[in-house]
Amino acid sequence: MHVHRFERVWLVAALGMIVLFVGTVTYGAVVAGYGMVDAEGGQVDTTDPAASEDFREPGVYEGSEPGHYDVYVETRRFAFVPGTADPIRVPANSTVTFHVASVDVLHGFEVAGTNINTMAIPGQKAVVTAEFDEPREYGLVCNEYCGEGHHDMAGTLEVVP
Ligand code: CUA
Repeated sequence: MHVHRFERVWLVAALGMIVLFVGTVTYGAVVAGYGMVDAEGGQVDTTDPAASEDFREPGVYEGSEPGHYDVYVETRRFAFVPGTADPIRVPANSTVTFHVASVDVLHGFEVAGTNINTMAIPGQKAVVTAEFDEPREYGLVCNEYCGEGHHDMAGTLEVVP
């Protein structure tokens, strides 16, 4: 069978692009994407994050510096612990570091109205820090589809005077 020279050139080019695209996506998912969270966070036990060295029982803890708080949040189908049943409560004029881990599937942790928005990847801890000056109530939202209750997965953060 005779294949025209230009046809062959474009065939090779097209195949080359497919290999390149698949390679890019694979690299992004396996190497770069998951490494991002790990850079600041750490590994946690998927079934029981609180048992991990990098995690504590869910709740609000006073940090080592005055005005600094650490909040440990577990995400689960379909709640934030704390956050959904009991609001997360921190004082105004504080710096808050959120440590977020999932006990089951991929969830999101967004504090609506702020730039806090991270994924909770099973087995990984996500860490985000923000300052809260004014007393205010914020909504917590899950941004990753996690099952039939995803749209109900919400909570509250109260910044109290
Ligand atoms: Cu959790 Cu969507």
